[in-house]
Amino acid sequence: MKTVKVNLDRLAANSYEIHIGEEILDRMGMILARSGWAQRYVIVTDNHVDALHGERVQDALGKADLRVDRITVPSGEAAKGMQTVLDITERLTGLGADRQTALIALGGGVIGDLTGFAASIYMRGIPVIQVPTTLLAQVDSSIGGKTGVDTAAGKNLLGTFHQPKGVFIDVAFLRTLPDEQFRSGLAELIKYGVIESPELLDDIETAAADGCLADHTFLERIIEAACRIKKGLVELDERDQGLRRILNFGHTIGHALEAASGYALSHGESVAIGMIAAADLSERLHYLPAGERKRIESVIRAVGLPDRIPGNLDPDEILSRLANDKKKEGDAIHFVLIKKRGLPFLNGRVPDGIVRETLKGLRK
Ligand SMILES: NC(=O)c1ccc[n+]([C@@H]2O[C@H](COP(=O)([O-])OP(=O)(O)OC[C@H]3O[C@@H](n4cnc5c(N)ncnc54)[C@H](O)[C@@H]3O)[C@@H](O)[C@H]2O)c1
Ligand SMILES: [Zn+2]
Repeated sequence: MKTVKVNLDRLAANSYEIHIGEEILDRMGMILARSGWAQRYVIVTDNHVDALHGERVQDALGKADLRVDRITVPSGEAAKGMQTVLDITERLTGLGADRQTALIALGGGVIGDLTGFAASIYMRGIPVIQVPTTLLAQVDSSIGGKTGVDTAAGKNLLGTFHQPKGVFIDVAFLRTLPDEQFRSGLAELIKYGVIESPELLDDIETAAADGCLADHTFLERIIEAACRIKKGLVELDERDQGLRRILNFGHTIGHALEAASGYALSHGESVAIGMIAAADLSERLHYLPAGERKRIESVIRAVGLPDRIPGNLDPDEILSRLANDKKKEGDAIHFVLIKKRGLPFLNGRVPDGIVRETLKGLRK
């Protein structure tokens, strides 16, 4: 088992460890038993993950003599709202959960965000432990303490910062993950490679060529690399006020594509095309040499993610989604561009005409 420490303040009160390995539930039980974080635990999971893994996780923790209950909510983004948070808190009061209780978020990013949010407000805040089960959650949402729920007006509109007491990443969960979800996580891993580590990109491309993307030693290695990159950014910018924004690489156009497609494109697929678009913008603005853009495109293709905008998506529709973001951000969209792989920067002055050329040029 590998451990990555997230150092958040000089007093170390908010600092925590990310544990990465295969079949680590027994060790997680021992760590919780020794931790003194809580007298009892409540696992919060979705019905889908529960059917696959819920009982096994509860049993493993029970073996460490921990008192553990388990509650489930419906799976999917549609459940990431206040009503589910209220349901969770009601179930907690029903179980007699108090300030000596900690929540365990067992699931993908939806469960991590919901459970983290519920933990941050229940009785003015109780501890949360993140046990991410999708690749996206393992490399992204479980680390950094951002929680949130969606409202009718937008995604993640309500939320808090609530750092977990610990993160336990068991790659064994990924065995049951559908391919499409797995590829979504790979898109985020490629993002880390582009913004911070060309070696990570090479590693992913080689594994794709050798057909061993699902190999557990490979996964442990790249998940650890991703966690180290994310934790470095979180340490520098815990409250997401500046530097952490480079994690949005590929997400500005990606989000617009995702919405314009009516969510027919998955998050990972949209981010994959969004990263190519950001590289294309960087090239058009003479920041990035063409060869570098091609390297990024080639790793995206190698893992089976799309590299072009589907022909049925209208560039004007995508542009109008971007214009909406512009209003929210105060009249300029800050694109994350790159000068080479590993060297991102924010640019709030990309002319609309260039964005349009990129969108047209990338259309299938
Ligand atoms: N807090 C953050 O910093 C942050 C960062 C990125 C994304 N997010 C949020 O994360 C969410 C997306 O997360 P996600 O992609 O993990 O989606 P998700 O949580 O909806 O999980 C995707 C699907 O996979 C299923 N699943 C989960 N683990 C499984 C497993 N091991 N085997 C089989 N099926 C499994 C789930 O039941 C669900 O149906 C979004 O709501 C997004 O806003 C948050
Ligand atoms: Zn993302």
